[in-house]
Amino acid sequence: MAYRRNPATDIETNGKNMRFSPRFLDELRERISLADLVGRRVKLQRAGREWKGLCPFHQEKTPSFHVVEDKNFYHCFGCGAHGDAIRWLEETEGMSFPEAVEELARHAGMPLPKRDPETARRERDAEDHRGRLLAAMEAATRFYQQQLGSSEGASARDYLKARGVTAESVLEFRLGFAPGGARRDRLAAALAAQGFDTDTLVDAGLLIRPRKAEGRAPFDRFRERLIFPIGDARGRIIAFGGRALDDHPAKYLNSPETPLFHKGEGLYRYREARAAARDGNILVVEGYMDVIALAQAGFPQAVAPLGTALSEAQLALLWRAAAEPLLCFDGDAAGLKAADRAIERALPLLAAGRSLRFVLLPGGMDPDDLIRREGANAFARLIESALPLIDMLWRLMVENADTSTPERRAAVEQAVFTRLRTIADERLRELYFREMGARLRRIGRSSWVAGRQKPAGRAPRPRGHGAGRPWRATEVPRSRGRLLETRLGRSKGPGERRHAEELCLALVLQHPQLAERHFEKLTTMVIGDPALDSLRTEILSAMGSTPDLDREGLRAHLKERGHDGAIRRLMHSDVIRSLRFMNASASEQEVERGWRQVIARLRCLALEEELKEAEERYGRELSDSALDRLLALREEMERAYAALLEDEDHGGRVA
Ligand code: UTP
Ligand code: MN
Repeated sequence: MAYRRNPATDIETNGKNMRFSPRFLDELRERISLADLVGRRVKLQRAGREWKGLCPFHQEKTPSFHVVEDKNFYHCFGCGAHGDAIRWLEETEGMSFPEAVEELARHAGMPLPKRDPETARRERDAEDHRGRLLAAMEAATRFYQQQLGSSEGASARDYLKARGVTAESVLEFRLGFAPGGARRDRLAAALAAQGFDTDTLVDAGLLIRPRKAEGRAPFDRFRERLIFPIGDARGRIIAFGGRALDDHPAKYLNSPETPLFHKGEGLYRYREARAAARDGNILVVEGYMDVIALAQAGFPQAVAPLGTALSEAQLALLWRAAAEPLLCFDGDAAGLKAADRAIERALPLLAAGRSLRFVLLPGGMDPDDLIRREGANAFARLIESALPLIDMLWRLMVENADTSTPERRAAVEQAVFTRLRTIADERLRELYFREMGARLRRIGRSSWVAGRQKPAGRAPRPRGHGAGRPWRATEVPRSRGRLLETRLGRSKGPGERRHAEELCLALVLQHPQLAERHFEKLTTMVIGDPALDSLRTEILSAMGSTPDLDREGLRAHLKERGHDGAIRRLMHSDVIRSLRFMNASASEQEVERGWRQVIARLRCLALEEELKEAEERYGRELSDSALDRLLALREEMERAYAALLEDEDHGGRVA
C-alpha cells in the first residue's frame, strides 16, 4: 500500500458504470502503454523501472511525477495526483469515463464489449431520459431569465439592484425570477407549450405532484423566487436555488434530488471557479450571493456547497482545482462548527501537498456583507492571513478550551490526538503529532497552579507557533518519495514480514555459506512465524554440528528432521525462484548483496511496527522521552530505507 488509494481522488472510478467489466478494464490497462500516453503531454525520463517528469497537475521545478508502467498508474508525490490511463484522459482531456474507455480501446485495438440488448436499451433509455431532463432545465432557465426581464420581474430586479448585483452578473450567472401570483402553473404551462410532458418536469424537480390523487395538477416548485441556476462540471444546468424576496420562512428553496442533481456532490459555480483558480486559491463560501459578490469584487474563483456541509466528494472536486482550497466561514459559533466539520472530513484525506486553509470572517458577516461594507481589499487582506489547517485545528480544539487543571488539559490533549489519528497518511500524521505535541507542551503548567486558575473556557495563549503565527509546513524530506518507491505495490503488515522471513531462510538454504558467515545475525534475528523460527533453529543446529555443510548436506539433514515439506514450499515460490541471487550459480557478491537486502528489509519492517507503537505511546503520554523515541525511530527507519534503496539501486530489488 505504498501508494495509498485515496477515496477522495477515486470517486468516479468504475462502480457506477457497469457497462465495462473489471476484467475488460484490466485488460485495457494492460494493453495501453501508460508511459506513451502520458508521454504525449509530459516529457518523461526513465528512472529505474519507472518514468519521471514534471507534474502536469501542479507547478514544480523538480520532477515528482512518476509513471509506473508495470502497475499501470501515475502518481505525483508533490500534489498527490494519482490514476490510471482512464483517469489520465478524464483529467487532461476532460473526457467522461466511458469516453475515455472508448478512446483507449480504439487506440489499443480492443473491441468494445457488447452489451446485452436489454441493458443497452435500459442505458439508452436512461440517457434519453437525462437528455430530456437537461433540456427541460435549460428551457426553465430561459423562462426564468425572461421573467426577470419582464414587468413582473420588476421587484426581483429591484431586489438585486439593492443588493448590488450588476446587470452583467445577472446575465453571467443566468439569474432568473420564478413568477408567483394566483396561478401556480406558470412554468408548467410555459414548458408544456414547448412540448415538455408533465412527467419529465416532475422528474426534473421543476413541478411538484400533489401527494394524493386529489385531482389537482402538478404545480410549480419555485414561485415568487429569485432563481440561481446551478450548473454541472460541463456547465449544463442541473438544479436551481430559489431565494424568497421577502422574509418567507424558507429563505432558500433548492431543487430536490433528481437523476441530474445530487446536492452533496456538486458545488455552485465549480466549472467557472476551477477555470479561474490559479495557484491553489479556489475559495469556498457558504452562499450563492457570496459567490456572486466575490466574482464582482474580482474573485471569480469562488464556489459554494448547496446548503450542506462539505462532503468528501466536494473536497475531491476542490482538490482537483487547487492544492489548498480556502474555506471561508463566519467567525460566529455556527461558522466555527462548520469549520470543525470540514476538518473532520478532510483529515483522513490529507496528503503531501494537499490541505485546506481557513478564513474566518468577523462575527456575523458573510463575504457578501464584508465586501459591501469594507470593500474588496478588506477581503483580499483576510485571504492573505488565511490559517493553515493545523492552526485552525489548534484554534478550535485548544485555544478556547479549558486546560486549567491537569485532568481538563489531559482531556483536551486526548481529544486532539484522537482526531490526529484519523489522518491516514502516515508521514503527515507523524508531522501533525510532532507539531501538536510540541505546541501542547508549550502551554505553561503554571496555568493550574492554585490561585492562578483562569476562568473556565479560556486557556492561556501559547507562545511561539501557537500564538497566531501561521505554521510553515515542515519540509517533507526528500527520502519520503524514495521510501515509498521501495515498498511499491507490496502489501504491508504481517504478510510482508513473513514473506521477508521466508526469503531470508530460502537464501540460507540455497547458499549455506551465508549461515557460516552470518551465524551471529542468523541466531539473533527475530522471526515471527513459528514454523519458520523452528526451521531456523534446525539450520543453526545442523551448521553447528557439521562445519562446511553444503547445500545437499543441509537439505538432507533438514529432511531427516521432517522439514521436507517446508523446504519444498519455500523453494518453489515463484517470487523466490525468480530472484537472481537465489540462483545456485549466483556470484559470491550477488549472494552477499541479496543477504544484505533481505536483512535490511526485515529491519525496516520491524522498525515500522516499532514506530507505530511509539506513535501511540506518544499520543498517550506526550512525554519528551516518548517523543525522543519516536524521532529516533523515524530517523533510524529513514536510514534503513535509504540503505536499502542504495543497495537496490546497485543490484535488482528484492521481490
Ligand atoms: P445564508 O443564510 O448564509 O444565505 O445561507 P446567504 O447565501 O447569505 O443569502 P442572503 O445573503 O441572505 O441572500 C447560505 C446558503 O445555505 C443554503 C443556500 O445554499 C444559501 O446560499 N440555504 C440557506 C438553504 O439551502 N436554505 C435556506 O433556507 C437557507
Ligand atoms: Mn448573505
